[in-house]
Amino acid sequence: MATSGSNATFDLCPKSLVGVGVGLVAVGGASYLLYRHLTRDIMPQKWRRVGTVQRIHFFPVKSCAPLEISKPGVEYDCDVLSMSFEGIRDRTLMVVNDKNEMVTARVYPQMTQIHSKKVSPSKLLFSAQDLPDLELDFENLEGPEKDVPTAVWGVPVDAMPCGDRINKWFSQAILKQDTGLKLVHYPYPKPVMTINPRLKDMPFIRQEDSGTFNDATSFMLMNLSSVADLNTRLKNPVDALQFRGNFELKMDVDEPYAEDNWQWLRIGEDTVFRSVAPCTRCIFPNINVKTAERDPDGEPLKTLRSYRLFNKISPALGIHLGLRLPGKVKENDVVYVGDR
Ligand SMILES: *[C@@H]1O[C@H](CO)[C@@H](O)[C@H](O)[C@H]1NC(C)=O
Repeated sequence: MATSGSNATFDLCPKSLVGVGVGLVAVGGASYLLYRHLTRDIMPQKWRRVGTVQRIHFFPVKSCAPLEISKPGVEYDCDVLSMSFEGIRDRTLMVVNDKNEMVTARVYPQMTQIHSKKVSPSKLLFSAQDLPDLELDFENLEGPEKDVPTAVWGVPVDAMPCGDRINKWFSQAILKQDTGLKLVHYPYPKPVMTINPRLKDMPFIRQEDSGTFNDATSFMLMNLSSVADLNTRLKNPVDALQFRGNFELKMDVDEPYAEDNWQWLRIGEDTVFRSVAPCTRCIFPNINVKTAERDPDGEPLKTLRSYRLFNKISPALGIHLGLRLPGKVKENDVVYVGDR
């Protein structure tokens, strides 16, 4: 037996024992780190009410207007890929140029004036000023054999072109010419993109939080109290929609800096999210959602920079969420925070 103590039998043992020892320490260390990581990231048992969801939005085309839903009180599905309403999903469409590069409202603010409505679970109807409405049928696109390589903020992803009829309409709506832009579709049933390099060091973010054609993660929450506070500092108030969150939270009572401590969020009875990163802001919020005009004074970004910069390059407002338990959500659902 190994414990017999006969030196003759164990001439070679000291070295291999060291090897085994090192191995054990390594395995032990790794499991400890994994254990610590898992215990730190375990979903809480207790939930505390903090407010309600005042508005829910999603954006079938990246940079364009939110899906218009006329019925009040509808339920939205949240799964790992995105939010959806009766089959229509958040940001599974995106505009690209002739080189298949992402095109957004940061360059073409009038994209925010392209509206969409659901016709059926696979059909959208688009409208834009001075153009006849356009119907798009997800079941009848040009692809998939003609997928094109594109990227969202440098993260590569292949996408399916929607076809010439659609491309012409979007080129007309955005460029006022017949060509130049294409609409592409996110063709995968799950998140395939890698994490935005800016966020890859965030400890709780996962690859599947990348969503569809999202800038960073599949869900985003805006705090209406923060927008209200920002508006007290601005000459011309902004609409919370300019920040393009999925959920607009109305807090019962403001808790200063709560956003720094919130780790877990539950919306309604089932749907659980992990707060994975603060949302840092580019110039998009400077585009007025009603007029598509860029603010001449660079607001609200300028004011945000004055008090929400936190040593970063861009100011933060809103939080990026990763889905941890799928479920349904609707407006006026209670929002809970998980206490640990
Ligand atoms: C919401 O905004 C208010 C006012 O800025 C702030 O006190 C509170 O911490 C914020 N809460 C969250 C969860 O972001």
